[in-house]
Amino acid sequence: MKRINQMEPWVGEEEKRELIACIDSGWITEAERTYKFEKMVADFVGSRYGLAANNGTVSLTIALMALGIGRDDEVIIPDMTMVATPNAVLLAGATPILVDIKRDNLCLDLEEVMKKISKKTKAIMPVAMNARPPDMDGIERISREYNLFIVEDSAQALGSYYKGKHLGTFGEIGSFSFSTPKIITTGQGGVVVTDSKRLRDKMYRIKDFGRIDRKTQKHDTIGWNFKFSDIQAAVGIAQMKKLEKRIKWKRKMYRIYQEELRDVEEIKMLPTDLTQTTPWFVDIFVDNPKMLKEYLNSKQIGTREFYPAIHSLKPYRGRGGFPVSTWASKHGLWLPSSLFLTKRDIKRVCKEIKNFFKKKK
Ligand SMILES: Cc1ncc(COP(=O)(O)O)c(C=O)c1O
Repeated sequence: MKRINQMEPWVGEEEKRELIACIDSGWITEAERTYKFEKMVADFVGSRYGLAANNGTVSLTIALMALGIGRDDEVIIPDMTMVATPNAVLLAGATPILVDIKRDNLCLDLEEVMKKISKKTKAIMPVAMNARPPDMDGIERISREYNLFIVEDSAQALGSYYKGKHLGTFGEIGSFSFSTPKIITTGQGGVVVTDSKRLRDKMYRIKDFGRIDRKTQKHDTIGWNFKFSDIQAAVGIAQMKKLEKRIKWKRKMYRIYQEELRDVEEIKMLPTDLTQTTPWFVDIFVDNPKMLKEYLNSKQIGTREFYPAIHSLKPYRGRGGFPVSTWASKHGLWLPSSLFLTKRDIKRVCKEIKNFFKKKK
């Protein structure tokens, strides 16, 4: 029987054609194709500027650096996220402050945020966990009241909105990832978006050795090499052209799972507004995800357990106080979510899930 993996990238003939054209052009380092890809992403989300970096961890770091956030500064982030979020804060030299999440969207709990704001807090970095939106109205209110920057970690949220506005466009800077499991991929890659020319230029210098632009050898600030390449951009351009279709299918896939699993009382799925959210992965919550994972694996179906809560990881180990992120990490399971899954594939997965729970009774 064909194995269904939890996630696989989807690249094909269009990407091959773009890559060949890029190689034939004789120019593979960051240039015109990168600018085109950046513009495609910025236009799609509705931002003035987009800037590509080598991955979504670095793009978050560049955003913090451009805002002058570093030593002695604190950045508020959710305790349930991919470890890249706190790592990026540390890479910028600042301290991530962990905050528990809400059960209905797995995003920052704003009451808990209020308890963690200190004199050192400079920014809030909300994460759209699995592309569901955080309470952006509330986050904007807090940012105004306490004079905090908003840097959105929208790594998983291309194609997702809050009240009709694309995620990643609320704060000073938003960041997207294009690693292989994302809705579109460039192999590795990240893009920051902003409406500020000043921040765009600052981020450009940070990623390009401190140069004002690539035509000069003037380095009047310190910068590094966090650049992209036209090879990645070639893949990204082909992928962007398929984005609308992919959004539609991702949403439909989630709906099929919802319908198929609706009557399985052992499974909880989160409320998800599919007019706004394009779930990145299909997430379910069960008593014992490990057992279900093993069973599905024996049926040639791959799944992935949720991220560990950040506070439980060795480098971030702290005291407790994160009941919801602890719950999510203990009970969450990601089901097969590759874009090329067919309705039949999804039905097969759901049938096996039902078999698992029938056997347990
Ligand atoms: C929420 C979140 N933030 C940041 C990242 C980091 O992105 P990258 O893998 O491109 O460095 C990821 C990657 O999956 C992510 O899911």
